[in-house]
Amino acid sequence: MSSTTRSTPRAPIQLSSKPAGRASPESRTACIRTFGCQMNVHDSDRIRRMIQDAGYAEVQHYEDADLVILNTCYVRENAVDRVKGHLGELNRLRREGRVKKVALTGCIGAAEESATLKQTYNIDLVLGTHNTYELAEFVGLPTMRETYTPELPGTEGGHNAFVTIMTGCNYQCSYCIVPTVRGRMLCRPMGSVIGEVERLVAGGTGYVTLLGQTVDAWRHEGKRFCDLLEAVSESAPRVWFTTSHPSNMEDRTLRAIGERDTIVKRLHLPVQSGSDRMLKVMHRGYKAERYRRKIEVFREAAPDGTLSTDIIVGHPGETEEDHEQTLELVEDCAFDAAYIFKFSPRRGTEAAALPGAVPDAVVQRRFLEVLRQIEQNAFARNQRKVGGVEEIYIRHGSTEDGKAIGETWSGHAVHVKTDVAPGNYVKARIEGAGPHVLYAGEPSG
Ligand code: SAH
Ligand code: SF4
Ligand code: F3S
Repeated sequence: MSSTTRSTPRAPIQLSSKPAGRASPESRTACIRTFGCQMNVHDSDRIRRMIQDAGYAEVQHYEDADLVILNTCYVRENAVDRVKGHLGELNRLRREGRVKKVALTGCIGAAEESATLKQTYNIDLVLGTHNTYELAEFVGLPTMRETYTPELPGTEGGHNAFVTIMTGCNYQCSYCIVPTVRGRMLCRPMGSVIGEVERLVAGGTGYVTLLGQTVDAWRHEGKRFCDLLEAVSESAPRVWFTTSHPSNMEDRTLRAIGERDTIVKRLHLPVQSGSDRMLKVMHRGYKAERYRRKIEVFREAAPDGTLSTDIIVGHPGETEEDHEQTLELVEDCAFDAAYIFKFSPRRGTEAAALPGAVPDAVVQRRFLEVLRQIEQNAFARNQRKVGGVEEIYIRHGSTEDGKAIGETWSGHAVHVKTDVAPGNYVKARIEGAGPHVLYAGEPSG
């Protein structure tokens, strides 16, 4: 998935007339590492704001940091393994006196397992997703319960910004730990969202991404997600949203994507499986046919648009026939991209206790079969873009090889030869395509 960059450093905001008592704030340094989804990327922005307000300078390497903050993900076991690797390394650095304090925040912090990790790795502070504001006190700021709420924007001044429109999730998918670690759905009022979008745009942000675990489930005082999306698309010059749930996705939203010039024609709609039997076991609340119909509406509304999805292979009880049905759905929907995950049992979820574990070798084969299918589709679709001239939004500035990473209005990722700064647009001809990215020549203007 995409990530955000901060092109302009933000000046610390004055939070209190009473400065917190600190010896020499200049000398303090902190390093933030973010794992997981955009929700965590956005939370890290808020954490960044706290440490800046507390007078810490942000550094990029653990060795240079007095305080290391790991903002963690719990969605699959490999996410936890990665964090354990970092914690081991941090313990070594701490023994050598090169790191003083370690804090763990985010979704692992909200899980029971965090108590064991705290002990094993001697973590100084563990915070979940609902009490991140306590970090403020830890870094020497006054209590910030009101100030560091989910409504606090994290990316002001950046050329692109995330705007959280809802937190948590009201679904109970068999395999998923997110509702446990993020809580139930809370929708932010429309006025508050629009207010933030307007402030961001006035401050120079040209690309707004609406964020939430199931953004299309957003509703508030009689308004639905399509109302919010339409309003945002009138306030911001470029808009995207993620992630959506097929059960909440309305045709009106899909049509708006096609009709509204400011909405990027890119839909991420996780399907998880192509088998009705598995979709039921997973409690997804829709059948494969309904998903296909949604995709038809999207393809008709935005024929040039891009469609991506999430697929889980090897959920307990998944048979060869279920897998075949997933392959069929992948073929029919001709996804432009997909995140394919091997089922990972999460303690406390329904699926972790289900019989019918799929052997590793079978999971691996199914994974590769889905991957091959996805890549073939994506490659064929990307090839069709070759020869066309596209308006490209530059997301990341050019790297050493002189290529910047941009995005077309159709939502395709493009490597383009330009040194134009992030946040600007260029026009260039697509000269080549791989399964994941398009390659453009020198911009024409
Ligand atoms: N809210 C989003 C997705 C959140 S998690 C949605 O509902 O679509 C991102 C993806 O991780 C999910 O779509 C799913 O494909 C995958 N995932 C979640 N739990 C998993 C597990 N236990 N094992 C493997 N993949 C999982
Ligand atoms: Fe998890 Fe399902 Fe909620 Fe997505 S909709 S976050 S997969 S429980
Ligand atoms: Fe991971 Fe938490 Fe996001 S578990 S996927 S960081 S909501």
